[in-house]
This record gives sequence, structure tokens and C-alpha cells, in this order.
Amino acid sequence: MTAIPIRVGIIGCGMVAEEYATTLAASSLVRLTACADADPARADAFGGRHRIPVTDPGSVLDPAIIDLAVILTPPHTHHALLLEAIAAHVPAVWSEKPLALTPGAAAQVVAEAEAAGILLGAAPDTTLGPAFVTAQEAVRSGRIGTVLSATATLLSTGPERGHPSPEPFYAAGAGPLGDMGPYYLAALDELLGPLQVHAAMAHTRAPRTIRSGPAAGKRFTAQAPTHIGALLTTADGVPTTLTASFDAAATRTPRIEIQGTRGALVLPDPNFHTGEVLFAEYGTFVWEPLTPAASAPQVAGRGMGVINLATALMAGTAPACAGARAARVAAISDDILRAAPRPDRGLLTGPRRLTASTTTTTTKESTR
Ligand SMILES: NC(=O)c1ccc[n+]([C@@H]2O[C@H](COP(=O)([O-])OP(=O)(O)OC[C@H]3O[C@@H](n4cnc5c(N)ncnc54)[C@H](O)[C@@H]3O)[C@@H](O)[C@H]2O)c1
Repeated sequence: MTAIPIRVGIIGCGMVAEEYATTLAASSLVRLTACADADPARADAFGGRHRIPVTDPGSVLDPAIIDLAVILTPPHTHHALLLEAIAAHVPAVWSEKPLALTPGAAAQVVAEAEAAGILLGAAPDTTLGPAFVTAQEAVRSGRIGTVLSATATLLSTGPERGHPSPEPFYAAGAGPLGDMGPYYLAALDELLGPLQVHAAMAHTRAPRTIRSGPAAGKRFTAQAPTHIGALLTTADGVPTTLTASFDAAATRTPRIEIQGTRGALVLPDPNFHTGEVLFAEYGTFVWEPLTPAASAPQVAGRGMGVINLATALMAGTAPACAGARAARVAAISDDILRAAPRPDRGLLTGPRRLTASTTTTTTKESTR
């Protein structure tokens, strides 16, 4: 059995590592015993700020110094680092999203971890946050009755509005579905069960312009679809729709709405752990915030999944945010893109243009 505190090593000391370090430092179950980064200056600065011993990236994945590896590097590096950690027999491994760039590679990581007896956990861990736990309790307790449908909507202006170098968000495999989809799909998977894709459409508004920072005005080309719509069902046949777009100007559409026979729920942004969950009884159209569930955690933040993984390692149980869930989400994302007609295959010619006659009809009808 692994001794307490569980020794945690962070690999990748960038932006998201800051939030993980803060969350993990507040837990008595884990101790940050190592950090490493391909950029030694970054590792030194991060280690100094959080008082974590700095280790060489080539020697950090070692069960002699860590029990749990936390991979917080860019997406294209996850697969190789995860396989390295598994091969080194680090007892538990956590990955930021995605596990890998393809569903096949994600499934390989899950299979290799299982074969080696290593506990694998993966982001997102927002499903452990108080907002999601409160919504889950409302669904499970029957507050909204039988679930009839679910709608998940990410309508974003695109990262180029605020991010100084947004190009990676539009790389192949990224886009709104690759980058943000895991939060929405993991939330639906946890709330309603595994999903199946029936139809989808994807559109790429390829020319983009950086809108802030020193490179403002610079143009670049999106490699991933920038607007995706998908029709799915749960295993129980609950119709579910997903929209993920970086092509919005503004929106008032809820991020996630669940309709039931007795009422409806609106969940806050699944990219975050906290926020108000709204409930409206059937036919009232009056939305009231739900009191947080008794089981909702008091603390929240990225890194909760690592603490849960450490608990699972201690108890010999399965982690809440299992690598297998991340692999399922990767497969659903891939199914969505496969189901979508592709303009480059001649199946879709881009947005349909209104003809003179349809424009006239619309105008006539709207004045009736
Ligand atoms: N930034 C966020 O707000 C945020 C939020 C949620 C999830 N994420 C996810 O977290 C991960 C990291 O994102 P980030 O924004 O922190 O990136 P970042 O670029 O700020 O940091 C990544 C760090 O990893 C290091 N690195 C790269 N390759 C490495 C390797 N092979 N070995 C060791 N170190 C290596 C880099 O030098 C860098 O310091 C991504 O998977 C991203 O999707 C980020």
C-alpha cells in the first residue's frame, strides 16, 4: 500500500500548472515532491514559486521519487509521456486533456495502463466541482423527473479575441470540439451515460485574425472545423444536441440545459468547477438557483481529479475521472467529425446562400 502523503510530480510547469499547484498544496493527502519542464528556466521559476524540488524531465518519471505523475504539457506530447510513465511503473498517472491526439492512441494508453496495473486519471475534473455535483444530484434525485432531452452549447467568439497567440487552438485536432468539447462531452457522459452519434455537420471559417496583443491584425488559417453541430442519443435514447463554435459574436444560450418531465436544469460553464445551477419547474419559466448539494465539495479547482486519483490509489478503487472516460470522449469527438460531411470531399459546399426567391419568401412570411 502507498504511504501518505502521496508523492506527486508535475511534468509541464506552464499556465495550467499554476492552478494545479495551488489546489494540490491545499491537500494533506498529497505532497508535491518534484516538478520538471523541457524549459529548465520555467521549471526553476515554478519550483521556486511553489517550493517544489526541480527535477530533470528525463528522470522525473521514477517511482523512487513519485507515486503519481501529473502530465500538464501541450496536447501533442501527452501520448508519449503517458506511455513513458506507464513503462516506468509510476503507480498512478494523471493527464490533462486530451489523453492523445487520436481515439486509437487514447485507447492504447488506457489499455497499457490497465495491463500494467497503473491507475489512470484524466481531465476534465470539473465534474467533481460543486456546480456539477449539485446538478447531478438534481438529476439523480428525480427533481426534474425523467430526463427527456439535453442541449450543450459552446458559442464562443474564438480565442483570437483575447489570446495573443491563438493559432494552436485552431490546429488539426483542436478547434472548439477538440479544445472545449471534452468539458461538454464529459459532463453529458457523467450526467446521462455514454453517448452515441447519429448525425453531425462541421464548417470551417478558415481565415482568422488575431484581435489583441502584439500580433493584433495578423491573419492565420484555421486547420480544424470552427463550427460543429451534432445529434446524439444516450444509451436510454435521450436525444442530445451539441453545438461547438468559435464563430459566435455573442450569445444568450445556456451552456448545458437538461429537460425533464417535471422541470429543467441549466448548468454553468462546464469548463469551470463553480457557478450557479438553475432550476425551473415545468411550465413556470421561473428560474431559481439550486442550493448546493450536501455532497458538493467546499474547495474547487483544477487538480481535484488528482486528489481523487490519490484517494483511489490509497483505497485501491477506481478514480472518478478515469482515463477510460477520456478515451470515450475522444471516440465521440472523432465520431462527430466522421459523421460530418466534409467540404474538401465535395459533400458540402459551405454555408448555403439564400437565393433571390428564398429571400423574397422569407421577407413576405415575416411581414404576415
Ligand atoms: N492554460 C489553461 O488555462 C488550460 C486549461 C485547461 C486545460 N489546459 C491543458 O493543459 C495542458 C497544458 O496547457 P498550458 O496552457 O499550461 O500550456 P503551457 O504552454 O503554458 O505549458 C506547457 C509547459 O509544458 C512544457 N513542455 C512541453 N513539452 C514538454 C515535455 N515533453 N516535457 C516536459 N515539459 C514539456 C513547456 O515548456 C511548458 O512550460 C494542455 O493539455 C491544455 O489543453 C490548459
